[in-house]
Amino acid sequence: MSSVTEMLRSFHAIIVTGGSSGLGKAFIEHATTLHPAARVCNLSRKKPAINLMQHTLRHVACDLEKSSDVVRAADEVLAWLRTEVPTGRVLLINNSGFGSYGRFPAPSLEHQLGMIDLNVRAVVHFTGLLLPELKARGGAIMNIASTAAFQPTTFMATYGATKAFLLHWSLALNEELRGTGLSALAVCPGPTATNFGQRAGMKIGGRLDSLSMTCDAVVAQSFRALTAGRAQVVTGWKNQVMVAFSARLPKPLAARGSAVALKKFRLPECGPS
Ligand SMILES: NC(=O)c1ccc[n+]([C@@H]2O[C@H](COP(=O)([O-])OP(=O)(O)OC[C@H]3O[C@@H](n4cnc5c(N)ncnc54)[C@H](OP(=O)(O)O)[C@@H]3O)[C@@H](O)[C@H]2O)c1
Repeated sequence: MSSVTEMLRSFHAIIVTGGSSGLGKAFIEHATTLHPAARVCNLSRKKPAINLMQHTLRHVACDLEKSSDVVRAADEVLAWLRTEVPTGRVLLINNSGFGSYGRFPAPSLEHQLGMIDLNVRAVVHFTGLLLPELKARGGAIMNIASTAAFQPTTFMATYGATKAFLLHWSLALNEELRGTGLSALAVCPGPTATNFGQRAGMKIGGRLDSLSMTCDAVVAQSFRALTAGRAQVVTGWKNQVMVAFSARLPKPLAARGSAVALKKFRLPECGPS
């Protein structure tokens, strides 16, 4: 595949979870700029505010923390594919997710379990329901993990563990898919300028902002990695250096290091002291 545009134009349909903001919205905008004829289906609670022609963007309103919504959304997506985009390769971008900052189980056990349901369970469930169709048509699956996947993340214990699951699952899935015409790419962004930090209850600004990448830069690198047929991409050279270092540390030492690093992101009025 010679260029990102050619790679994107090889897909007839693009399915994105969490396209209503941040990285998911940027994935849709970037893909439809390079491939205006692409048919896009978004799954999230809110409809994305993206100026695309009505027939180009299908929105399936759903709360992917709920297993019943995952099943209903998968049925709707499969019906959309069969009626409106009956042939051609499909790109699935599993992007919906959130984090939470603080000492487990703050802010609540229910919140932590919802995070596992969205970041892990929904990805496995939704991908599993779509897999026969994806295998029959060929295509690619992008799983949005994180640099948090490479070491224990103190004060974001559950979040980091969900992303470690996603990274390992995606890499193994990619191997299992060899020779099927379908592949999986694990995307591992570091801090990126989206609503993520605010929703996670992290202090915005200062060090986090200096490390932060734009959504456009993360999306461009992710699509380049997909074009190159890679199984994993860590976006940004600072994140690559950080991951190369932290992934080699003994896990207990990495947990201690992340405690020191992540302590700086607590909000003044709450979180670990
Ligand atoms: N930003 C970062 O620093 C960073 C770093 C590494 C990895 N990531 C990962 O990147 C992905 C995208 O996050 P982002 O940074 O773009 O944050 P964001 O702006 O908060 O976007 C999160 C997206 O997930 C969707 N979502 C949240 N809860 C959902 C639910 N229950 N059901 C369906 N969709 C839901 C949201 O849509 P609705 O609210 O409309 O449902 C939204 O579109 C996440 O998986 C995140 O873990 C982010």
